[in-house]
Amino acid sequence: MKIATCNYSGSVGKTVAASHLFAPRMPGAEIIAVESTNESAADLGLPVEQMRGEHFGRLFRKLLMAESAIIDVGASNIEAFLAELVKYDEAHLEIDYYVLPVVGSGKAQRETIKSIQALAAIGVPAERVRVLFNRVDADVHEEFAAIFGYAHHAGGFIANPEAAIYDNEVYDLLANKRTTIKEILADPKNYRQLLREADRDDLQAIAHLSDMHALQSLARPVERQLDRAFAAIFL
Ligand SMILES: Nc1ncnc2c1ncn2[C@@H]1O[C@H](COP(=O)(O)OP(=O)(O)O)[C@@H](O)[C@H]1O
Ligand SMILES: [Mg+2]
Repeated sequence: MKIATCNYSGSVGKTVAASHLFAPRMPGAEIIAVESTNESAADLGLPVEQMRGEHFGRLFRKLLMAESAIIDVGASNIEAFLAELVKYDEAHLEIDYYVLPVVGSGKAQRETIKSIQALAAIGVPAERVRVLFNRVDADVHEEFAAIFGYAHHAGGFIANPEAAIYDNEVYDLLANKRTTIKEILADPKNYRQLLREADRDDLQAIAHLSDMHALQSLARPVERQLDRAFAAIFL
């Protein structure tokens, strides 16, 4: 399976989805960041190939060879990426799913609708365009009324309210510690115990151990939540 996380909007969770939702559930997938900045899953220690939107020829050849790939298209590169995609006949069909993460702000929802329209304009079939509701607080329908309203009157994409990632401090903690949920789950250290034994005056050590303890307590429930979101997005 080959997927692209993309959106005209920045900071909607394209990199979080690529790193924490897709990479661990698509073993062997190549991760490709189409980004001008250096922000990608590589920050977490995952193997990432970095390229720019205008180097689509190289990307296209890689896609033809790959069994499985995750392409994280940064907001500043989506324009160039789509422009290149249309140059090659049917190239857009090399990507099985275009996943558009969206957060609840009005601006992010408007830019997501613009992204849906841009994909439709280059001929991407509606069933390949999937919205991923991100930073959900409590009620997907209420928080993303603009997306559901647009789905109702225009269509052209799939929006399953179960394809949702809840707002959680775990993602910033993982970024700060440059790690992944898989690594946290494999870490045998008992941070609660280490915290009890730590030198009370070593504030830096205490801050680190309490962050690691928070990560350990959050990892399991977050992993289950992401399993449900992954299943729902491809339903
Ligand atoms: N579900 C979430 N809960 C809390 N923070 C999140 C969530 N998703 C993303 N973030 C945070 O929002 C910021 C932007 O996310 P990122 O994936 O880098 O967006 P993009 O790649 O679309 O620009 C990051 O600091 C990230 O940790
Ligand atoms: Mg990003």
